[in-house]
Amino acid sequence: MFSQIVGFIRELYKQPEGFIPLHAPLFDGNEKQYLNECVDTTYVSSIGEFVNKFEDKIADFTGAKKAVSCVNGTSALHLALKLVGVEPATEVLTQPLTFIATANAITYCGAKPIFIDVDKDTLGLSPVALKKWIEENTILSKNGKYLINKTTKKRITACLPMHTFGHPCKIDEIVEICNSYSIPVVEDAAESLGSYYKRKHTGTFGKIGILSFNGNKILTTGGGGMLLFNDENLAKKAKHLTMQAKIPHQWDFIHDSIGYNYRMPNLNAALGLAQLEQLQFFLKSKRKTAEKYKTFFSKLIEKSKSNLSTGNDDELNISFFSEPANAKSNYWLNAIFMKNKKERDRFLKYTNDNGVMTRPAWHLINTLSMYKDCQVSELKNSIEISNRLVNLPSSVIK
Ligand SMILES: Cc1ncc(COP(=O)(O)O)c(C=O)c1O
Repeated sequence: MFSQIVGFIRELYKQPEGFIPLHAPLFDGNEKQYLNECVDTTYVSSIGEFVNKFEDKIADFTGAKKAVSCVNGTSALHLALKLVGVEPATEVLTQPLTFIATANAITYCGAKPIFIDVDKDTLGLSPVALKKWIEENTILSKNGKYLINKTTKKRITACLPMHTFGHPCKIDEIVEICNSYSIPVVEDAAESLGSYYKRKHTGTFGKIGILSFNGNKILTTGGGGMLLFNDENLAKKAKHLTMQAKIPHQWDFIHDSIGYNYRMPNLNAALGLAQLEQLQFFLKSKRKTAEKYKTFFSKLIEKSKSNLSTGNDDELNISFFSEPANAKSNYWLNAIFMKNKKERDRFLKYTNDNGVMTRPAWHLINTLSMYKDCQVSELKNSIEISNRLVNLPSSVIK
């Protein structure tokens, strides 16, 4: 069965031999022209027209009021958390099934993550688990303004859900719960450019959303990130902080707070703008690929069932993960569930040994040495997903 899967992927990517990566970028538009323009005009750093244009176009595409660029998604997360008021010795509610940057950004603020379980049908933070944890573990501060963790006596200063592999989580319910406790929501939409929940772009539900344009994302700037805002004043503040908090002046250097060197260079934005011109095509191609995977796996399972009834084979227990209800996903990384961890590891070894790159979901962040003393909710779904999920090659097909 594993050989049939490898065969299918090789056919899909029209690559009968050689290495098939998990997600390679495609540069098929104006990338070289725009990069040359940067060199020719000498605007290669964080001042230049491509950065401004890229920000405006991302705001248009996502429906955010304003977009503010960053050097990567991790710095965008750091800044977003600071802007919503995450301070040292406070706590942030997030999911354990995520890339390490989500938790690290909380740590950069001097705060601590609390890990809440995800939903099996979205792979993202579970609103039910979130509500339950809040109800059982927190009390309202005396002035009624903050939630306090009953165990640690610390303030909960934000909630940071993530749209896993591009699949939207139940973000409207999460925002509603958090609003009822005055907890600001920062959406980690690093993986979900082009994904919508109830027809609204991910990253635009919370107070701030962030995107990543790392080389493995649906659209790349080499390295890069973006903050998405519905509040224009907050966006202004963010932009100021990404530029060392320097007050604009013809020659003088006056800074009014501690800022960061986080603004995206023009070179990266030039690449991004050329990529953005192809995004609709990328999205179409990726949804087509997901449809092909889905059909292939359902046929494979049917075949295995009929083999089973004739006593010919072991039952194949693989299911393709489809976009959640109410969502339109970018299918950034396609995913399947294997029967169990042992079967998953056998599959990972077989595919990688045969030149087809596959990878497991992340180790849950609360199991890593730096985060093992953090508070957690019951994590049944996260553990199951972490043990059984495999990501399949998902690059755009021309
Ligand atoms: C969920 C998630 N959050 C944050 C990041 C960080 O983005 P970057 O690599 O651009 O710093 C990534 C991706 O790399 C990610 O997948």
